[in-house]
Amino acid sequence: MTLTIPPKPPARASRVSLWRYLRLFRQDILSAQPAKLYRAWMAEFRTPFFRSFLVNQPDLVKLLLKDRPDDFPKSDRIGEGLKPLLGNSVFLTNGETWKRQRRIIDPAFEGGRLKDTYPAMRAAAEAAVKRLEGRQGPVEIEEETSHAAADVIFRTLFSIPIEHEVAGQVFTRFRDYQRSQPLLNLAAFVPLPGWMPRFFRRGTRRNAAEIRALIAELTTERMAAIGAGTAPDDLATKIMTTRDPQTGSTFDTAEMVDQVAIFFLAGHETSASALAWALYLMALYPEWQEKVAAEAAALEDESFASVSKLKISRDVFRETLRLYPPVPMMVRQASCPERFRNRAVPKGAQMVLSPWHLHRHERLWENPDGFDPARWGTENGKRCQREAFIPFSAGSRVCTGAGFAMVEGPLILSMILRRFRIEPVAGKAPVPVAHLTVRSKNGIWLQLSKR
Ligand code: HEM
Repeated sequence: MTLTIPPKPPARASRVSLWRYLRLFRQDILSAQPAKLYRAWMAEFRTPFFRSFLVNQPDLVKLLLKDRPDDFPKSDRIGEGLKPLLGNSVFLTNGETWKRQRRIIDPAFEGGRLKDTYPAMRAAAEAAVKRLEGRQGPVEIEEETSHAAADVIFRTLFSIPIEHEVAGQVFTRFRDYQRSQPLLNLAAFVPLPGWMPRFFRRGTRRNAAEIRALIAELTTERMAAIGAGTAPDDLATKIMTTRDPQTGSTFDTAEMVDQVAIFFLAGHETSASALAWALYLMALYPEWQEKVAAEAAALEDESFASVSKLKISRDVFRETLRLYPPVPMMVRQASCPERFRNRAVPKGAQMVLSPWHLHRHERLWENPDGFDPARWGTENGKRCQREAFIPFSAGSRVCTGAGFAMVEGPLILSMILRRFRIEPVAGKAPVPVAHLTVRSKNGIWLQLSKR
């Protein structure tokens, strides 16, 4: 076990004024929180205007996500910043609309389908390695992993590489959107009255409309190809031809645009973030890097089965998701009054679930801030994996792409380390901050050399 602690953002002082808190929050939700949240089971944010509860106790997390998800729907506020882009997508909806969407989408991501998706994923990984071969000097790796993860999504969803003109444009515009709209914004904690106008930064709405027009072009073309019987057998075709088992209906083109927007956003930002942190951790812990590189020889066999042999890479990727969960916090809303830990939780209260704090909880995990992929084989690691590890959320609303991401991440990590040795760049230690996902304040810089 290594003693160096991977980067952790500083916590704020335990007492600050509400206004100071809001200011800190606007900069970054991670460093705006006090250190006691790493030890607390539950915390209340009580202000003159709103009440939110952070829930950090495994049985309460289970209650919200697994046992009674219908009583804790997604808060409408969470979607405020994303609505112009995501419309009525499965990430934002609730109730019957959401249930129908999941019935149509889920079959495309079932275990068996992953095997069909694998060649496209592998081709994207090979393209990423090739791009890196052309790079000299220090590399900002988040940029590269975003590119790679976006490529994975376009190839698996629409059978087109990122070099395709429309795909490339969607990718660039999403990057601009991400910089202006965090996935978890202030609005989720501070309920704004309905009459108050919502301000989007200049260009945000226009940018969203342009991204949606590009996606509409892809889905309309695909709908026509399905009609003509010439569509490739990829995720888009699968989703667009799957009938809701209860009503027999399929998605129409407009509904599909909403879903494609979220697959792209949820599927590439998150994987890119995790992969960039995983590579940084490998640079920080060369003994683990060598283990992953040695194991990666299994990938000379191109079959899907070879990925199942990447046990060390998976443990490293899982440890990365623990320390740097790409979605650091999620928000639900209490639809009826509750009593938790002897505290009254009023109807309408915002319930914050924080993978970031739960994954580093000092009363649950051994060596909570340390990097130790071997922990997953220990009793404490196994128990915490079941009870205190939710990088993909849990229950019926669990990430649809969890299985997909757990193939993609270890695969790309192994393919890069099979080819390159990586080292940190002096003077450029990354500082985690929460943008749309957990990113580094000034990028993640690595020095690559060919093995
Ligand atoms: C490391 C990679 C990933 C991580 C850590 C991740 C994490 C998450 C989390 C935490 C949620 C729940 C958010 C909430 O309830 O507020 C979620 C939802 C979702 N994710 Fe992922 N995700 C990843 C990759 C993917 C991929 C590759 C796809 C699709 C190709 C995807 C598609 C979705 C969708 C559609 C939802 C909404 C599900 C619903 O609300 O019913 N994700 N993801």
